[in-house]
Amino acid sequence: MKIPYVDLKTQWKQEKKELLPLIDRILSSAEHVGGSEIRKFEKKISKLCNVKYTVALNSGTDALTLGLHLLGVRPGDEVITPPNSFIASAASIIHLGAKPVFVDVKEDQLIDPQKIEQVITNRTKAIMPVHLTGKMCEMDSIMKISKKYNIPIIEDSAQSIGSKYKKIMSGAIGKIGCFSAHPLKNLNAFGDSGYLTTNDIKIASTAKILSNHGMADRNIVKKFGYVSRMDNLQAGILNYHLTKLNHIIKVRRKNAKIYISELSGKDVFIPKADNRTFDTFHTFVVQVQNRNKLIKFLESKGIQTSIHYPRPIHLQPAAKYLGYRKGSFPVTESQSKKILTLPVNQYLKEKHLYYIIKCIKKFYG
Ligand SMILES: Cc1ncc(COP(=O)(O)O)c(C=O)c1O
Repeated sequence: MKIPYVDLKTQWKQEKKELLPLIDRILSSAEHVGGSEIRKFEKKISKLCNVKYTVALNSGTDALTLGLHLLGVRPGDEVITPPNSFIASAASIIHLGAKPVFVDVKEDQLIDPQKIEQVITNRTKAIMPVHLTGKMCEMDSIMKISKKYNIPIIEDSAQSIGSKYKKIMSGAIGKIGCFSAHPLKNLNAFGDSGYLTTNDIKIASTAKILSNHGMADRNIVKKFGYVSRMDNLQAGILNYHLTKLNHIIKVRRKNAKIYISELSGKDVFIPKADNRTFDTFHTFVVQVQNRNKLIKFLESKGIQTSIHYPRPIHLQPAAKYLGYRKGSFPVTESQSKKILTLPVNQYLKEKHLYYIIKCIKKFYG
């Protein structure tokens, strides 16, 4: 038996019949760069996230970079973010010449709002909470700090399309929401893609222009820009996948619920769900003892797992110059040795889910 952690092959097998004619239609239109699928996608995401504007981009990383730039982040500035995210959260700050200022997380792997105020300086230009695993950060406390110090929030919503905090959609709480539509995300393109959400027309229109070489129209360049556009073809694929998103989230939540009720215990720690949030389980992460042995055991049973992420950002070789050390963020560092991502995807058969549970229980005797 082989149980993959993600199953993009099955996705294509199931969608091929409907997608091939759609791809043919889009390519036949010869709208490759820019086009009607993009406009449709932007409208649909704005409706889904309940925001005024969406800008389709070519990655979540570019959404973060453009978003931070539009919040005024410049060389020498500081942006507060957790150290346990995917590397792109910090890289987007660094590429603007700014400095990521890390804040440790809580037992649920999300930024600890109680530790934010102590690192605010007069150079802090933005706070970037990361809704890791599709679980929403404690946004009430974070927004309070944002208002108190007049520092804007840019949500790293890369993993949390469809997630909610007190019924408000991910990406609609801060000034800007930044999403990834990488193939591994719940709403996925078949290549790199991303998008930015906002209620601010100036941010939306400037992001659109900057993502397209800074061209206001074919011949006028107001600001030197980038090439960060989403392809029309990827937008078409995303429009199709949007019709499946509710189902994807429903199945992932059901799978997660089974894991939670079967596995929670002294050997497997699963953070308590926050009843203010609606989680979408981009990943299902448990914290376990003897993780590396468990991974090997599960591998021997045909079960693929993953770790998000084994080395915190502040301990990456690239981050050495920032001056953080082992011990700088004890919770993140301790979790990095215990976290394990189990398959939770929508293609996982229920009998496989129970087989994974049985194997984990067997491992811990
Ligand atoms: C939390 C987080 N932030 C940012 C990104 C960057 O998104 P992308 O890969 O689309 O550039 C990702 C993608 O994996 C992510 O998980």
